[in-house]
Amino acid sequence: MRPENASAFSAGYLYFRFIPRRLYGKISYYSPGGGLFLNVAIMGYGTVGSGVAELLAKHHEHIVKKSTQSELELKYILDIRDFDGLPGNAVFIKDFDIILNDPAVQIVVETMGGLHPAYEYVLACLKAGKSVVTSNKELVAEKGYELLTAAEEMNVNFLFEASVGGGIPIIRPISQCLAANEIVEIAGILNGTTNFILTRMIHDSMSFEAALKIAQDNGYAEKDPTADIEGHDACRKICILASLCFGKHVYPKSVYTEGITKITLDDVECAHAWGGVIKLIGRAKKLPDGRISAMVSPSLIHSSSQLASVDDVFNAILVRGDATGDVVFYGRGAGKMPTASAVVADVIDCAKHHERKKLFGWADSDDSYVVDRLDTVTSLYVRCALKSPDALARADAAFGEIVRIPYFDPEGSIAAFTTAAATERELFAALDSLDCIEPLSVIRVTDY
Ligand code: HSE
Repeated sequence: MRPENASAFSAGYLYFRFIPRRLYGKISYYSPGGGLFLNVAIMGYGTVGSGVAELLAKHHEHIVKKSTQSELELKYILDIRDFDGLPGNAVFIKDFDIILNDPAVQIVVETMGGLHPAYEYVLACLKAGKSVVTSNKELVAEKGYELLTAAEEMNVNFLFEASVGGGIPIIRPISQCLAANEIVEIAGILNGTTNFILTRMIHDSMSFEAALKIAQDNGYAEKDPTADIEGHDACRKICILASLCFGKHVYPKSVYTEGITKITLDDVECAHAWGGVIKLIGRAKKLPDGRISAMVSPSLIHSSSQLASVDDVFNAILVRGDATGDVVFYGRGAGKMPTASAVVADVIDCAKHHERKKLFGWADSDDSYVVDRLDTVTSLYVRCALKSPDALARADAAFGEIVRIPYFDPEGSIAAFTTAAATERELFAALDSLDCIEPLSVIRVTDY
């Protein structure tokens, strides 16, 4: 970290002026450059937290300029683990109350992950008048409304650019650059780990397990990869995006979520023969009655889709605005430095908006806000074992129409097809009614 840190701090004190706060009676300190002198604390020194400390040190001068000359000093790092070596002048602590009770800490970075104790710590910080920046999608997806409300009440900021899409700017573009639009739909590849796994399966015929291991070794996966492979991570991200786009909190429990654990190399081959690829897609759409439909599931997408060529750990998010049409945001959706970049950008924004709440948030919602997934319209890809010679003719009649996908099976006992579009209620009822086929894989087909 900068050797001149200590002197900048002392010089800051030479320049400090006490500013009587009208609202909360806080004291502000001014830096030599005329900006504020702000202390930052990081809670959680894992992959992202250590990246944040590194970026704050590496780009210090640049960050000061971007923060309207505010000096940002990393004062504490909270972690239950022991680490060798201190980043700059920061002090490692294990007691959260030190951060909470230090009025000189104005910006807190939460990179602990998980809901508890992150939620309790973040709420306490906001209530103590500190702005909070987080990369924790579980926290925002579950408690976003409550935390944004607490921030509003205390005239501080709660920012979470890093919670969706890693290093891809998406929260700020939706809330600012696309503000003139009515956003009607949002969909994307929101999880780097599963996209990495699917890419290895598609391009290298690699097994699911081998690809997951590489993703974990590279630090893309969550501590418990179940959250990635079962779709919960993508679900949290589509909840955050949908809340922001449509103005009401979308809770993860109301979003039907399916992961990629049942996808086989046979399905990957069938998707190729059909003319596309399988991707894990999170999507949300505003319906004419004001409610929304939202879902996370593996999806067959055509190779002409903008999302089809998004490979490896990359994410892409398609935002459909009434004025802009489709806008796609693409970049590294996971990893230490891309995510840290988004966190530090929020820290800079907090410094620029110190003691000023950014107009940013959403309302609460009730259980009826997200429609039952059975009422959503889709078409299905089905790979199945045929149990009678007339099985496909009966499937054709049950689904209205099916389109066969060329599938190499020497014994001719397995087939793959897509159905016409209908509600999920109708499609799954038709599937249940067909005792002449045994489904091996059922995947939704989307047209993004
Ligand atoms: N595990 C997440 C992913 C990390 O793979 O996308 C970024 O949120």
